[in-house]
Amino acid sequence: MKFKSPVQRPLTQVYQNYTEEDFKVWKLLFNRQQVNLKAKISQEYLGALKEIGFTADKIPDFKEIEKRLKPLTGWSLTVVPCISPQKEFFAFLSQKKFTASCWLRSMEQLDYLEEPDMFHDVFGHAPLLANKYYTSFFEGISRIALKHINDQRVIEMLGRVYWFTIEFGLIREQGQVKIYGAGIISSSSETENCMSEKPEQIDFDIREIMHTSFRTDILQQKYFVIQSYEQLYRTLGVIETVIEELA
Ligand SMILES: [Fe+2]
Repeated sequence: MKFKSPVQRPLTQVYQNYTEEDFKVWKLLFNRQQVNLKAKISQEYLGALKEIGFTADKIPDFKEIEKRLKPLTGWSLTVVPCISPQKEFFAFLSQKKFTASCWLRSMEQLDYLEEPDMFHDVFGHAPLLANKYYTSFFEGISRIALKHINDQRVIEMLGRVYWFTIEFGLIREQGQVKIYGAGIISSSSETENCMSEKPEQIDFDIREIMHTSFRTDILQQKYFVIQSYEQLYRTLGVIETVIEELA
């Protein structure tokens, strides 16, 4: 499916509309990231990828994803044509719905996208929606965001939490640092960058994260490393405390 502008992008997934090129793009990205991520990816993500049933040969069908996720955590995907406004995004999350696009980048755009496509949203984000601590953390952030939706300072801080965990988070598993952030999982250059000598890997500190700005237009220079998905969930109380301290 190729669209000249976001306005033309689909509001529902019509599976038969995927073209031969879409299938080629999915397969190429899937196989390339399987190789790139092999020794670097969180075991929890790998297990979830199998559980959710993604393969190189088939572009995921949102209805099938829902059937797999619902019994595990109650989560599903809901299609949006492009990035959702904040309030809508958090409202969907609070209902256990992750907003995802269903269009795929073209062959010419394999390594650069101005906004997330289905490979990022679905390959990157969907598998960990099978993890209870991860989704409870997700839901918790949305609950806090909706409570403070008109306070731009809070929304900015929650954006940083989201960025340094859900998008660009690393985790220590059996003494080794692994990837769980969707922004890394769906990008070959981020996969290489996060494990190189160039950026900093910092022990997870939610207060520091809430006060750390980030850039979206460069490879990341700082990554925060959690000890477990449970640790993410356990920080929700601290997030609320930091927000109360702002008042
Ligand atoms: Fe994302």
